[in-house]
Amino acid sequence: MDRSSLYHQARYALRHPDRIFPHLRRLSRDTWLRLRTDDHVAYYRAVMKSDTARSAEAAVGSKSHERWIKLGQMQFDYLVRHGLSPEHRMLEIGCGNLRAGRLFIDYLDPGNYYGLDISPDILVAAQETLVTHGLQNRLPHLTPVRDLRFGFLPDAHFDVVHAHSVFSHSPLEVIDECFRHVGRVMKPEGWFDFTYDRTEGKEHQVLREDFYYRTETLVALADRHDLDAVFMPDWENLRHKQSKIRVTRRA
Ligand SMILES: C[S@@+](CC[C@H](N)C(=O)[O-])C[C@H]1O[C@@H](n2cnc3c(N)ncnc32)[C@H](O)[C@@H]1O
Repeated sequence: MDRSSLYHQARYALRHPDRIFPHLRRLSRDTWLRLRTDDHVAYYRAVMKSDTARSAEAAVGSKSHERWIKLGQMQFDYLVRHGLSPEHRMLEIGCGNLRAGRLFIDYLDPGNYYGLDISPDILVAAQETLVTHGLQNRLPHLTPVRDLRFGFLPDAHFDVVHAHSVFSHSPLEVIDECFRHVGRVMKPEGWFDFTYDRTEGKEHQVLREDFYYRTETLVALADRHDLDAVFMPDWENLRHKQSKIRVTRRA
């Protein structure tokens, strides 16, 4: 399905008339922000500023607090099942307001969690999550970034890198930049899990906010940066609307 096609949008509007007004609001914001920002990161930072001002939990994609808790737990349980252990050092790209981060921070040894985000507004909300959950003494690192070059982080440092619902909001050049640099900060045996909005048809985007990729596009992109990428079928069992790929450094 191509969500950017007029046919799809007209059919969707007929079936969900209640979503027409929110979509028109997003459309006008999209036009306004495109004119006022120079690149995708600046654009998306402005989207996050506007969304976080309404609700930080909604800004990271959760319609209710119960969904926020559930989505965090799903990410956490999956990585623990796959071998995340307390002594690991973890980098979370696009950590948001710590929907899953709060669980990782509690589980990992103090100082072992690094969260990055392009949005200072959501990182302030992340600090509030730390306070609400009494996690100050776990000493997480929360850092605003302009790009995904990880220039301020050391070589071969992280056992696990995680990005949930970040590449679903990223054009290919942002993902390419991440793949070009992420291998350097990963330990040789480390792994990088990310989710993406998968399409089996034509790749497309809705506004500058939502991007739909074919799995083979992302696997081939990783390959160009000497990374091996595999589709994670067990994530599909959780019935989350995005799919997951795991990337490792090529030996
Ligand atoms: C849908 S939210 C998900 C947040 C978090 N991963 C979670 O699951 O709750 C996407 C987050 O990624 C951040 N983001 C988007 N593009 C980014 C980029 N290129 N680099 C770092 N963070 C990014 C956004 O600011 C936002 O906080």
